[in-house]
Amino acid sequence: MTADNKTEKLQGRALFEAIGKPKTIVAPMVDQSELAWRILSRRYGAELCYTPMFHARLFANEPKYRDSMWSELDGDKEKDRPLIVQFCANDADYLLKAARFVEDKCDAVDLNLGCPQGIAKKGNYGAFLMDDWELVHKLIRNLHDNLKCPVTAKIRVYDDWEKSLEYAKLVLDAGAQFITIHGRTRDMKGQATGLANWDLLRYLRDNLPEDQVFFANGNILYPSDLQRCTDAVKCDAVMSAEGNLYNPAVFWTKTDDIDMQFRRVDKMLREYFEIVKEVPGEASRHAMKSHFFKLLHAFLNVHTELRPVIGKTSVHSSFDEWEKIVVRVEEIVEEIYQKDNISEIDVVTTGEVQSWGGSYKTVPFWRCQPYFRTVNGEKQNTRVLHVAATEKVEKTSKKEVKQDAKVQTEESSTKRKPSEELEGERKKVDIEKENVTI
Ligand SMILES: Cc1cc2nc3c(=O)[nH]c(=O)nc-3n(C[C@H](O)[C@H](O)[C@H](O)COP(=O)(O)O)c2cc1C
Repeated sequence: MTADNKTEKLQGRALFEAIGKPKTIVAPMVDQSELAWRILSRRYGAELCYTPMFHARLFANEPKYRDSMWSELDGDKEKDRPLIVQFCANDADYLLKAARFVEDKCDAVDLNLGCPQGIAKKGNYGAFLMDDWELVHKLIRNLHDNLKCPVTAKIRVYDDWEKSLEYAKLVLDAGAQFITIHGRTRDMKGQATGLANWDLLRYLRDNLPEDQVFFANGNILYPSDLQRCTDAVKCDAVMSAEGNLYNPAVFWTKTDDIDMQFRRVDKMLREYFEIVKEVPGEASRHAMKSHFFKLLHAFLNVHTELRPVIGKTSVHSSFDEWEKIVVRVEEIVEEIYQKDNISEIDVVTTGEVQSWGGSYKTVPFWRCQPYFRTVNGEKQNTRVLHVAATEKVEKTSKKEVKQDAKVQTEESSTKRKPSEELEGERKKVDIEKENVTI
């Protein structure tokens, strides 16, 4: 690739327009934003999807790893575009080598600069590259100069607004064509997740070149939050991770129809399951258990008898076994719809506006909805949970922690073991299961 080739690549806003000016984005999610999930999310309003983060060196060097993450249908022009493929890396050569495997099969390659987990610290990638700007610049520039497709980046912020701005400018100067900013710092993870800072995102947006394509990430619970975020940040598009996992229709804004925005879990589960059966590759099979748990989260709080049934499944379970679970969910929800008072109970209500600017909704347990946990006896979402993080963590009762741990154990028993490092990635996903953000 030469400098001439570089100029042929679509850049910035031209690239954004070429991929249809997406407004809604499925976030990169390890083991969770795989092909089947992307297909489902696109049907419910996602206009751009990111793959899960792939480990650049493994992707470059280990065909087994690559095959487990990427199938012939990933990046398919009809079914899986626009698509951005994300890598984590700390070596420019490996990153380029990995990216070359997908440069013809996606719209851009993204560098993960946001993962704050211990595994990223150990491997020196993700948010830990925030300490080595020179390396960040080199990684992005090498792709910008040598890859056929454009490069983008997803970053976290610093507490210091000016430093965040300088960092964003460096990432863009290196050649990133889109920037996604997750409005949390590297320390805002796990129990200290807290609110993403939209004011800071707005500050960055306002101080970057006007034409810069800017994606905001953080705090999306409901479809109605998308416009709130766009208005607050003045961003081009909004990315959601966790909101999308619990409700793939979080991006549905074409109508206010609750049958779309908060779809019945039996229907969503069936649709997802039928997609998994159709798509090739291992990744979608491996993600099933976790998706079942998340899609059914509220439902399983009532129908606890299904929890161990899903818990016992593994990647080796036959589709017939999964089918039984899907059918059981369908039967239970159908029974609910036989109730005489169904029209009275099948409603979504919106509560008062909260201090963080949005409102909680009450959604029937048989409909997809965001995940809340209880802290200090209060219904809370992990995204808005820790406005006063430390104080709340200290007060969280042991019982609540235990309950969360139990859910985590049941959801965690799906794993692949292609290599030690890959196993590390899986562990990270297991940590993620209860809403630790990357
Ligand atoms: C299960 C899960 C997996 C994630 N994996 C990745 C990843 O592979 N790459 C990345 O950049 N961020 C990853 N993240 C972080 C999200 O992309 C996003 O930045 C973060 O969750 C905040 O968005 P949210 O408030 O919509 O959840 C992950 C988050 C979750 C919940």
